[in-house]
Amino acid sequence: MEERTSSIGQSMFRDDAIGKVTGETAYPGDIDLDGQLWMKIRFSDRVHARITALDTSLAAAYPGVVAVFTARDVPVNEYGLGIPDQPVLCGPGSSQAGADIVRCVSDQIALVVAESEEAAAAARDLIQITYEDLPAVTDVLAAMEDGAPQVHPGAERNILCHYKIRHGDIEAGWRQAEVVVEGEYRTGYQEHAYLQPEAGLGFIDDEGRVTVVVAGQWVHKDREQVAHALGLPEEQVRIIYPAIGGAFGGREDMSVQIVLALAAWKLRRPVKIIWSRAESIVGHHKRHPTIIRARWGATRQGKLVAAEATVIGDSGPYAYTTPKVMGNAHFMVSGPYEIPNASVDTYGVYTHNIPSGAFRGFGGPQGCFAAEGQMNKLAEALDMDPVELRLKNVLHDDSITVLGTPLPPGVTLARVVAEGVGQSGAWTQTAQGWQRANGAPPTRSNRRRGTGVAIGFKNVGFSFGAAEHNWATVELYGAAEIERVVVRQAGADVGQGAHTVFRQMAAEGAGVPVECVELIGHDTAETGNSGSTSASRMTFMAGNAIKGAAEQALEKWRTEERPAIATYKYVPPKTTPYDKETGHANPNFAYGYMAQVAEVEVDVETGHITILRVVSAHDVGKAINPQQIVGQVEGAVVQAAGYTVMENLISREGRILTPYLSTYLIPTVLDIPHEIEPVILEYADPRGPWGARGMAEMPFMTLAPAVAAALHDATGIWFDEIPLTPERVVFKLRQHGIDAF
Ligand code: MOS
Repeated sequence: MEERTSSIGQSMFRDDAIGKVTGETAYPGDIDLDGQLWMKIRFSDRVHARITALDTSLAAAYPGVVAVFTARDVPVNEYGLGIPDQPVLCGPGSSQAGADIVRCVSDQIALVVAESEEAAAAARDLIQITYEDLPAVTDVLAAMEDGAPQVHPGAERNILCHYKIRHGDIEAGWRQAEVVVEGEYRTGYQEHAYLQPEAGLGFIDDEGRVTVVVAGQWVHKDREQVAHALGLPEEQVRIIYPAIGGAFGGREDMSVQIVLALAAWKLRRPVKIIWSRAESIVGHHKRHPTIIRARWGATRQGKLVAAEATVIGDSGPYAYTTPKVMGNAHFMVSGPYEIPNASVDTYGVYTHNIPSGAFRGFGGPQGCFAAEGQMNKLAEALDMDPVELRLKNVLHDDSITVLGTPLPPGVTLARVVAEGVGQSGAWTQTAQGWQRANGAPPTRSNRRRGTGVAIGFKNVGFSFGAAEHNWATVELYGAAEIERVVVRQAGADVGQGAHTVFRQMAAEGAGVPVECVELIGHDTAETGNSGSTSASRMTFMAGNAIKGAAEQALEKWRTEERPAIATYKYVPPKTTPYDKETGHANPNFAYGYMAQVAEVEVDVETGHITILRVVSAHDVGKAINPQQIVGQVEGAVVQAAGYTVMENLISREGRILTPYLSTYLIPTVLDIPHEIEPVILEYADPRGPWGARGMAEMPFMTLAPAVAAALHDATGIWFDEIPLTPERVVFKLRQHGIDAF
């Protein structure tokens, strides 16, 4: 018999490569249906106000307008990924109490549907809204003070969630500490800036289902929320994703899904919407800005003995994923270290700013910025190499975390650090331990160079007891031999290449070449629930489901069933939530581990930072498609570079002053790190499919603290606030007496 080449570990061409390069691929906004109408949304003009009157008569009378919908028209006027706490439309006459109040400028008030996009836009501006302003709070610290305006009645000091860690004996830890470092870290908002802004179509399909074609991260969760708001059984709603132009967490919470479904359901005609970039930047959630205070202590020998932190995240007025994101930050803020005594308090706080939510790393990058900042400061205070200090303290297989439990088996961080830092050449291992190597001199006299390191870990999969599973179906067709394999798997390919990897794993599972495998996905009418493409979970979860389905289908094949069809539900090991008082938990069933080295050059005249080189080392367990992993590393490092040195979303009293890509700057090809070198390590995860671990968020996690450490190496100054815009950098350089001349 001919030896079949494994489909695993091959850089297969992506299914979607040609269409995307030629421009033929249709994203939601590119799809048109016969007889379609256009929708425009009227957003709130206020950050906190009661709508006392809403006059839509001028809009309804505008030529070409077919309908105007308001809160009165929404059967169950509420939605939310975790908690249904946001009105679909704000205004009088709602089925839900409190929906007459707007709580931020991204609240939606009315929908205008017209024969053309122009008519819908013109009519939208004719809607007359009478507001009664209410006291607003847009500063997260002010929101936590007694007597602050309440965003929601009942949330004391506007606290949406508060988690604690009380591990070991923190007072005993401080008594043992011989060196203590403190810092207050601040991180900014970040906008996802995906290629295509929110867009889609609502229509009634040939089986009478209310159907929405849109870009999202979880077709079945979108369906659940649409059905809830329309008061329909889920079977009467269908969600389809065509090509998705990036998501990064920004499509976890919904945008246009319910309003498109509502209009199509009422009008029985196709309805289309495309948000402008400004609507997108104001209209969907952002990465949480945080304020983190941290105090860590170590012995003279460099053993961590105590860590204390307070983490405050601005939720905006609705929950979105805040309880989960801040829950993740709560663990990450102590870093991947053995710390016998720890005390952490983490808060998600309501304000009248636009909502915060999921974004690649999911609270991890904020926690990591503080944790790694603390480690780098400790190394300086101890006069110890920062790599040495980390290796003295990193978690191993049997280590107990600050949550009172070990990590799942397969903790490879020490190896990842040694490999990644070693391969960077920026450090060398000597008989005395790791030492920083001499770097190249700066290119000009007004520039200074430095090198920094940061390491981390990130969970794969839903955390803290959240229900977690993934369905796949594998169908084997043929007579004597398997000729064709169909895999049904709903997991969203948000642009990262998941569909290609699903086919590779189905081919391997069924023992056929990848060309024989056809994927049916992205449609609630055709697939079982996969959970979201989030938390770096889809390769791990879908892989285990596809592998299980393929094994069962092969068994049926061997008993001569034709076609042989099996459906399999993969359920990973259980996780548990934080204990209310101690924070002790078994939070996750899998992790990825990483280490990054950054080399930067700072122009001390202008404060401009150039990231020259990033070495990004990752234990991915098994690289199913190595080229796609390289793509994920490069993409995440570029996105994290934007977060660290450029991207500056300015919110003043709840209003976004940078709603365009001309004012909210993301890296262009001239701004990105000059060199990005992925180091891909394959230390199998015992629970991963073919050993694979998730890896999509991991290269984002550590860049900000690595750059801050490099900047310190270059200037001797600690920068604890990102983004490191030239203005902020130059201000601090001058404060410390550093000038170009
Ligand atoms: Mo992600 S930030 O877990 O979509």
